[in-house]
Amino acid sequence: MPTITCIEDLRVLAQKRVPRMFYDYADSGSWTEGTYRANEADFQAIKLRQRVAVNMENRSTAVELVGQAAKMPVAIAPTGLTGMQHADGEILAAKAAEAFGIPFTLSTMSICSIEDIAAHTKAPFWFQLYMMRDRDAMERMIERARAARCSALVLTLDLQVIGQRHKDLKNGLTAPPRPTLANLINLATKPRWCLGMLGTKRRTFGNLVGHVKAVTDMKSLASWTNEQFDPRLSWADVEWVKQRWGGKLILKGIMDVEDAKLAANSGADALVVSNHGGRQLDGAESSIHALPRIIDAVGSQIEVHMDGGVRSGQDVLKAWALGARGAWIGRAFLYGLGAMGQPGVTKALQILHKELDVTMAFCGHTQLKKVDRSILLPGTFPTA
Ligand SMILES: Cc1cc2nc3c(=O)[nH]c(=O)nc-3n(C[C@H](O)[C@H](O)[C@H](O)COP(=O)(O)O)c2cc1C
Repeated sequence: MPTITCIEDLRVLAQKRVPRMFYDYADSGSWTEGTYRANEADFQAIKLRQRVAVNMENRSTAVELVGQAAKMPVAIAPTGLTGMQHADGEILAAKAAEAFGIPFTLSTMSICSIEDIAAHTKAPFWFQLYMMRDRDAMERMIERARAARCSALVLTLDLQVIGQRHKDLKNGLTAPPRPTLANLINLATKPRWCLGMLGTKRRTFGNLVGHVKAVTDMKSLASWTNEQFDPRLSWADVEWVKQRWGGKLILKGIMDVEDAKLAANSGADALVVSNHGGRQLDGAESSIHALPRIIDAVGSQIEVHMDGGVRSGQDVLKAWALGARGAWIGRAFLYGLGAMGQPGVTKALQILHKELDVTMAFCGHTQLKKVDRSILLPGTFPTA
């Protein structure tokens, strides 16, 4: 077992252990992947101000996300097919998040179901919803999230059409993988993954198959998804979801100030500045670049979170300093999961927390809640 000291170590190990089509599914963006790369690179460009001779004892990174206590301003982002990075992946990641003290978000397109997560955790989790044409199916999904005591609903607004990811098309992505010669040769090099999959019954879309009419297997699911993601999604639909849910609502996928204003006026509890991890509109700016404009426009009206490119605790600190009350992680936890299952996700969270805590101290602070833009070197961060 190699010594793991950073998220990149987890990525390298995940690449060795996860079948190529699922590793590629996680580690890719749409078209040229320019936005995917910019999400990380733009964090790097922001410089921190080092302060010295400041008492660094008794530090705390504790915050609240939509009113819920968390050990640090990080949430696990919803990711589809997580149970294909590692057997029972969503359950394992939810357990790691619960033990660490941060929120876990389950994707509509998960392998483990809402009920699976509820049965294996005590802490309330968040559920992510896509707007489908089949409103009956949506009502039932919202009802299931309520029955599972989810403490927030995350409505994703940026995937009514799908950004082309070349690798997924070339790999012929399916869950479970089709037994083609190329897949079988690749699977033969991933014995841990195969053993895990043999030991679980969760190998297809747990929230949909058996729950939603006309979704009985992968083939019908693919056509169902194409037909069902509703391209007519509007702010009236956001209101429809809000009325039916009645609890904390988070709108995910906001990149523009005008949309942020509409989100704030919708009465949602929070919005997530997100370009879907560079998987949708290639050519969009990075999330961290868009963040300050959105904070300055609506930060006093609605809680603003962000995701995209968070690979270290320093990134979390920079996002916090620019005004994001939560930094969500996709790949950072997926790499941990693919590398080592639940301990890998825990490791990812420990790495982020330590980097956040120590960097905060270097910047002369002991209480994250008191950190603001003054820790950033002027001229190195985007402004409104
Ligand atoms: C493999 C993968 C699957 C994803 N699936 C979903 C999804 O089902 N629903 C959703 O709202 N976002 C989804 N996302 C986007 C994430 O929620 C999040 O916005 C993104 O991963 C953040 O960027 P990061 O991976 O650089 O942290 C997915 C991202 C990845 C990497």
